[in-house]
Amino acid sequence: MPRITIQDFVRKKKDSRKITMLTAYDYPFGQIVDEAGIDCILVGDSLGMVVQGLENTLPVTMDEMIYHTRLVVRSARNALVIGDMPFMSYQASVEESVRNAGRFLKEAGAAAVKLEGGSEVADRIRAMSRSDIPVMAHIGLTPQSIHRMGGYKVQGRTEEEARRLMDEAHIAEDAGAFSLLMEAIPMDLAGRITEELAIPTIGIGAGPHCDGQVLVLHDVLGLFERFVPKFAKRYVNLREEALRAIVEFREEVEKGSFPSDRESFS
Ligand code: KIV
Repeated sequence: MPRITIQDFVRKKKDSRKITMLTAYDYPFGQIVDEAGIDCILVGDSLGMVVQGLENTLPVTMDEMIYHTRLVVRSARNALVIGDMPFMSYQASVEESVRNAGRFLKEAGAAAVKLEGGSEVADRIRAMSRSDIPVMAHIGLTPQSIHRMGGYKVQGRTEEEARRLMDEAHIAEDAGAFSLLMEAIPMDLAGRITEELAIPTIGIGAGPHCDGQVLVLHDVLGLFERFVPKFAKRYVNLREEALRAIVEFREEVEKGSFPSDRESFS
């Protein structure tokens, strides 16, 4: 199977075929996601919460993102890999944002970057796109704005907010974004944005009318206990499985039944 490209994203939208996307942060899980035939792997800054055990995504650094993106790029044979720009890697200036975005392609081997925001980062999206760095924009609930938003809340519920999000979506597209991620917004609004835009939309908590869907891998696999957002679906409880296996190992060592002759050399 050839590697998925951003052109395939656009083709899939035209052909009304859904785009699939999951996060991954390391080699073994990147391999599994890739082997499962998922179109796109996002190395999300959500790694701050699900891998590093942080309260939110704000402390995640560029160097950490580059490291994890490299691991995932090494694992993926077919999926398009997108690196997520962490907080303060693109906010300070256009020039710094382009340099940091470039690091994802140059040092980590990603094919594109994602950043949060619409109108306020339009100049960044434009500058990156002009430098041949494909950009996925991210609107709606943007976790890096947690302090301004006052928590992880559904966005776009009032007429005014919905109109603003529609404008943001158009601004991101006009600035050159190749795709738009929409998080935690009402499904009808997400449907309208999807209809109006030529670029593909990817939803997380944005209902079924988006061109594609993304979830955080640790939610899908039941590896993140702190909270499960309403929009996430847990397909398996790997934490429980892992705990059971590790407890069994401990008990066998304590009892002396591991290692047995089968695991020993004569
Ligand atoms: O960091 C992340 O994992 C995200 C999610 C929206 C998928 O941005």
